[in-house]
Amino acid sequence: MTSMTVNGEAIHYKLDPETPLLFALRDASNLTGTKHGCYSGDCGSCTVIVDGHAALSCQLTIAAAEGADITTIEGLSNDRAHPLQQAWAAEQVSQCGRCDPGFIMALAALMRATPNPTPDQLAALPNICRCGATPRILKAVARAAQLTAPLNAAPAPPVAPPKAERT
Ligand code: FES
Ligand code: FES
Repeated sequence: MTSMTVNGEAIHYKLDPETPLLFALRDASNLTGTKHGCYSGDCGSCTVIVDGHAALSCQLTIAAAEGADITTIEGLSNDRAHPLQQAWAAEQVSQCGRCDPGFIMALAALMRATPNPTPDQLAALPNICRCGATPRILKAVARAAQLTAPLNAAPAPPVAPPKAERT
């Protein structure tokens, strides 16, 4: 048995430990939001967050994920209100939808540390969109960065007390 936490729930898989996490999530946990793309680590559509970092679930066995804290697209927010999900809808990014969950999870992990990612950081993501939606994805990233900016802003400096008036 291989145990881990998936979207906040303790899961015990009775599967071959060499089973890719992608298949455990989709076929045993029915979390089909994580997409099967290339199965070779080249497309990013299977991206989930493992212990706070983006990971390609087609390249990770459940044995390697033993004890890990996994978040899939289904667990990113309770009500699809994550800034990236809001931005995706507002910019009408989705075309076939195959790449979207992986992009959103990769970006969610990246933007947790870097709310306003640089073009180089975005270009370094392994995720690809076969439908040519990349321009809309970049617009959604910019929109999500704006949505998260107030949450990530440094706290305002304390306001100096007014000087006592001289009489
Ligand atoms: S399916 Fe995992 S990287 Fe393509
Ligand atoms: S919308 Fe089809 S692969 Fe990106």
